[in-house]
Parts: sequence; structure tokens; C-alpha cells
Amino acid sequence: MHRHDLPDEQLPRQAHPDPFDFTFIPTVDLDDDQRWSRYDEIGVLTGPEPVPDWVITASGAIETELGILKTGKEADVFLLERATDDAATVLAAKRYREAEHRQFHRDAGYSDARKTRNTRDRRAMAKHTAHGRSVQAGQWAGAEFGTLCELWEAGLPVPYPIQLDGTEILMELITDRDGEVAPRLAQTRPDHDQLRNYWDQLHQAMAVLAGRQQAHGDLSPFNILAAGDRLVIIDVPQVVDIVGNSNGMDFLARDCRNVCNWFATRGLPVDAEEVLAELISYAW
Ligand SMILES: Nc1ncnc2c1ncn2[C@@H]1O[C@H](COP(=O)(O)OP(=O)(O)OP(=O)(O)O)[C@@H](O)[C@H]1O
Ligand SMILES: [Mg+2]
Repeated sequence: MHRHDLPDEQLPRQAHPDPFDFTFIPTVDLDDDQRWSRYDEIGVLTGPEPVPDWVITASGAIETELGILKTGKEADVFLLERATDDAATVLAAKRYREAEHRQFHRDAGYSDARKTRNTRDRRAMAKHTAHGRSVQAGQWAGAEFGTLCELWEAGLPVPYPIQLDGTEILMELITDRDGEVAPRLAQTRPDHDQLRNYWDQLHQAMAVLAGRQQAHGDLSPFNILAAGDRLVIIDVPQVVDIVGNSNGMDFLARDCRNVCNWFATRGLPVDAEEVLAELISYAW
């Protein structure tokens, strides 16, 4: 019989601390900018299998804030180190802001097919209460995490999604050849061969997406990172179903124009209309 199964009156009275109480008391003092990894916690969703071997999964890992990488329109991206005694990795932590702190929101138009089932949440969102705003921030984070998982599993070049905890996504930090944070494609000046190589990769990724009847929905040289010779697509919360969403085709057309124009300006003649027609053919 376990101690906890005894009726109250049979429990030994304790004058001294229970010698059998093995409650774990951490002996490490965390600084204000540190926290324990929550990878193992209930309520935290973790990324798809197989988990890459660089991901630190130990529950005793400590996370340290390394500062802000970039403030965006609806989320901020921070650098976060996750470390144990034997290993350390730097991750990207994307933290969604509640709607009132955003500079613009994508909540209309994209969410055609994304309905909220919980009526309390739906009412709160409609009334823009504090609860409603955090539900919405959580929904965008949830949508982005879910999409990253799907796309990663489909072999698309996206950061590996490590975990989702409320409004925060931890993901692979994309770096360049020197281990520096990768620049956005828009900031690069690739030579002709590299431009061709980048276009081939992007074209291929867009074709795979279209074959899945999806469009990124906010694709531009600002949401593509140049990781050395490799391109990585980021910022995917609004990925749209181009067949099921009434605005889907418009998003696909805009994505095509945004990226084709950039490549054309840099000297690689790619025609947005031709690419669009080709992508549409993959979706049906
Ligand atoms: N996994 C990552 N690795 C490296 N850098 C990243 C990563 N994720 C985001 N970033 C950087 O943070 C910026 C903002 O990220 P993201 O585009 O996902 O957020 P956002 O809030 O939608 O931003 P914006 O409003 O600028 O589009 C990116 O442009 C990129 O520079
Ligand atoms: Mg972005």
C-alpha cells in the first residue's frame, strides 16, 4: 500500500521532514534571463519525428535569452540558447504578440477555412477581450507550428519546428556558412550562378507546395532566408489552401509576382504569369 492510500488519521505525524520525500529540488540558481526547458512538459507540443540529433531534449536543459533578432509585424523573434552540461544550441524563438500590439493583422482573408470550434473562444475573439486576443495570438502560433511540421515532413526547406508552447514557437535557427544568422534573400546580391541555384530551389519548393494545393500566402524575398547555397522558407502561419479558400488563387498569384519580380530585377528573367500557370496546373 502506498503512503498516499492511507486514510488521513493513519498518516504518521511529521515532526521532521519526510525522509522518503524525493521531491526534486533544483540546486542550480537560474538568472532572470534563464528558464528550464519545457520540451517535456504536458501541454507543450513537440516537432515531428525523427527529431534531428542536434535538438536538445533533456528536461534538465537550461534556456538563456540571447536577445532579440527581429521585431516583426505580428511576432518578435529572439535568440535563445538551450544547453546542458555537454551540449549547447542556439534556437529561434518566435513569440506572437496579442492583436493590439501588432502593426497589422492577417486575421481577415486568410482564415476562411480556419474556424474556431470553442464558442467561448469565438465570442471572446469577436469582442476583442484580453482572453480573445491571447486566443488569437495562440491560434496564429498554433497554425504556424502545425504548418511548419507538415511542410518539414513533406521535405520542404523550412526550419525544423522544435516545440510550441502557447504563443511561442521554438525552431531551428537558420545560419549561413559561417554560422551567422542567415540574411533574408532580399539583403543578398547573389552572382548569376547563385541566383540560378536559388531560383531552382524556390521554384521546386513552390511546385511541391502547389502540388499539395497550398500557397505560402506571404512569400517574398523577406520571408526567404539565404543559408549559404540553400534557401529556407519562413513565416508560414498563413499558408492557404488554394483550392478550398476563396482567396487562395489571389495569394498564389501575389506570391509568384513577389518572388519572380525580385529574381527578374536581379537579372534572371522569370515570368510570373508563366510560373503561375505552371503552379496552377500542379494543383489540379
Ligand atoms: N528560424 C529562423 N532562423 C533565422 N532567422 C529567423 C528565423 N525565423 C525568423 N527569422 C528572422 O526573423 C524575422 C521575422 O520572422 P518572421 O518573418 O517569421 O516573423 P514576422 O513577425 O511575420 O515578421 P514580418 O512581419 O517581418 O514578416 C525574419 O525576417 C528573419 O530575419
Ligand atoms: Mg516575415
